[in-house]
Amino acid sequence: MITRIAVLVSGGGTNLQALIDAWKAEKLETGEIALVISSKKGTYALQRAADNGIPSMALERKAFHNMDDFHDAMLEALTRYRIDLVVTAGFLTIIGPKVLAAYEKKIINIHPALIPSFCGKGFYGLHVHKAALDYGVKVTGATVHYVNGEIDGGEIILQKAVDVLPDDTPETLQRRVMEEAEWELLPMAVALLCRENKHEDEPLQVLPE
Ligand code: GRF
Repeated sequence: MITRIAVLVSGGGTNLQALIDAWKAEKLETGEIALVISSKKGTYALQRAADNGIPSMALERKAFHNMDDFHDAMLEALTRYRIDLVVTAGFLTIIGPKVLAAYEKKIINIHPALIPSFCGKGFYGLHVHKAALDYGVKVTGATVHYVNGEIDGGEIILQKAVDVLPDDTPETLQRRVMEEAEWELLPMAVALLCRENKHEDEPLQVLPE
């Protein structure tokens, strides 16, 4: 059974690229990237989808009267593309309660720090790495976790630590966390969940009496 994956993005999409590369290298188990949703038009992530023949769409909050309509449109798109697993990778818009309910334990996110450090409201992009440097931690990293109603609050799936170096700037640290942790961890977590999804479909084994 194929696991149809949607990747939700807002920017450059380097994590999307890591997933595409893993998929092409047959490292996503049953996973297939079936849809890319960008919260903005014209992102480089949409270009990456086009370059790889992946269906994509921009779903902009401002195109809808209210959050409810926006979330309904998201759920409609995920349903229309028969999505089994949702991956948010740098997606800067909140996932609504209806989508969360329809995809319980089927939505994961990558955060560029070791949760519970440097996470929650306001901790996105370079802010995360700036906060880590300001605090003076010597180790940071990345976390893949389930998405629930709380920002960066869902159960942790995988984590990887990365050293902070004395001359780091938020930019150099961000890059090292991506290269050494995020791009490795996200495809690994997706493969793990695809493997589980495959087993969900298998009939229960009947043990001989
Ligand atoms: C990554 O650092 C990710 O951990 C965070 O947002 C950033 C997205 O980068 N959630 P990209 O668009 O995948 O390059």
